[in-house]
Amino acid sequence: MRIAVVGTGYVGLVSGACFAEFGIDVCCVDKDETKIQRLRGGEIPIYEPGLDVLVARNMAADRLSFTSDLAVAMEGADVVLIAVGTPSRPGDGGADLTYVHAAAAEIARTMSRYTVIVTKSTVPVGTGRQIAAIVRDINPRAEFDVVSNPEFLREGSAIGDFMQPDRVVIGAESDRARAVMDALYQPLIRAGTPFVRTGIETAELTKYSANAFLAFKITFINEVADLCERVGADVQDVAAGMGMDGRIGRPFLNAGPGFGGSCFPKDTEALVRTGRQHGAPVRLIETVVDVNRARKRLMAGRILQACGPDAAGKRIAVLGITFKPDTNDMREAASLEIIPLLQEAGATVHVYDPAGMEEGRHLLPDVVWHDDAYGPLAEADCVAILTEWNEFRALDLGRVRSLMHRPVMVDLRNVYAPAAMAAAGFHYCSVGRRDVRPDAAKRRKAAEAMLLSNGFAGDACVL
Ligand code: UDX
Repeated sequence: MRIAVVGTGYVGLVSGACFAEFGIDVCCVDKDETKIQRLRGGEIPIYEPGLDVLVARNMAADRLSFTSDLAVAMEGADVVLIAVGTPSRPGDGGADLTYVHAAAAEIARTMSRYTVIVTKSTVPVGTGRQIAAIVRDINPRAEFDVVSNPEFLREGSAIGDFMQPDRVVIGAESDRARAVMDALYQPLIRAGTPFVRTGIETAELTKYSANAFLAFKITFINEVADLCERVGADVQDVAAGMGMDGRIGRPFLNAGPGFGGSCFPKDTEALVRTGRQHGAPVRLIETVVDVNRARKRLMAGRILQACGPDAAGKRIAVLGITFKPDTNDMREAASLEIIPLLQEAGATVHVYDPAGMEEGRHLLPDVVWHDDAYGPLAEADCVAILTEWNEFRALDLGRVRSLMHRPVMVDLRNVYAPAAMAAAGFHYCSVGRRDVRPDAAKRRKAAEAMLLSNGFAGDACVL
């Protein structure tokens, strides 16, 4: 079996490498010649754990190749995956299908045998039919089927998500196409992965509904977190208690600064638009979009408040700027909203992120960049954790406190435990939990214990 993958972005590259790992002959095509040259040289343009190894292994085995010429990729291909970008259209929030339509037209011109055209990009309901119409129009004699096979990959765990998915959704309308898709997914079928075999529109809508539901879950817990703060409850425990109900589930109930990334913001907006277009508004998701947009601004306010009455001239350290950990992706990251608001209020912002700084330099002007997590903390009036990278979970808190001008932490990812932070001497604000102040009594006790163990009298110590 041979497949062509159009688009070497996130979905295209991960899917191409993973299908090659299944033993399939894969040729990835992209218009960007420099990107193709870099990929041929083994350079991976995105940050995804394990992807470099997978690409190198399959290139060495001659199962994975790269070209900028679609005709070359299409030679002998049984399947062509469309994995090009579908950005949000400025203004109305709909998905911009320019690249999808262009790919369909080019495929139509280069097809020479029965081909299954698969949409992997998240495309609005009805796109599959549009692709079929474009192909038929350009190449009336073409033998083909269109299949919708949406991708549910998460950045940072994309390979695991591809190799051990919760399910695979296939929207196809002929037995011939279904047989080709079964051949493509043989290893997963053998491994017992559940498959949802359905029509094209249903598959297209499944992807939007899944993403919108997850976005809703996050937004729900974020609003519950606000309420927790007002009534003195703890959102982590609320989420744990809710999540143990098998009908609800714990994942995606982590309160934070609002969802970002390349999918949720764009897909929720596109679903809202589709609903309105078809006279069936998805009002819950309309609210999710609005609440999530407002949330990032609110979070900036929270950081400024922790800095004291006036942020002008204050130094704020920000740890983490990517939309989530284990990625260098800055799309729709909360940091892009929050940091400019801190600067507008007159603060100087010092930043460290393990992978996002190269991208961040183009997007966040007038920020002072640092090479490690402690750099931004020197003389800082407040430190804000915006992304829960693992390396921020194990900071040397004594060192953090001694570096800072004031030991104030705003933890928008609930990385630390409030009681432990108070004991460590921090004024600590998190999401959906009580703010805590430095616990002077505990610090004095700890210091006394230390002095006693060194032979000094406890009551001689005044902190
Ligand atoms: C998402 C979907 O999970 C994936 O199935 C789909 O194919 C693409 O979109 P991704 O955008 O990579 O994947 O990231 P995800 O891990 O889902 O997180 C999205 C955003 O939600 C991030 O900003 C993250 O920080 C936020 N989030 C996630 C929360 O705030 N709380 C949570 O509990 C979970």
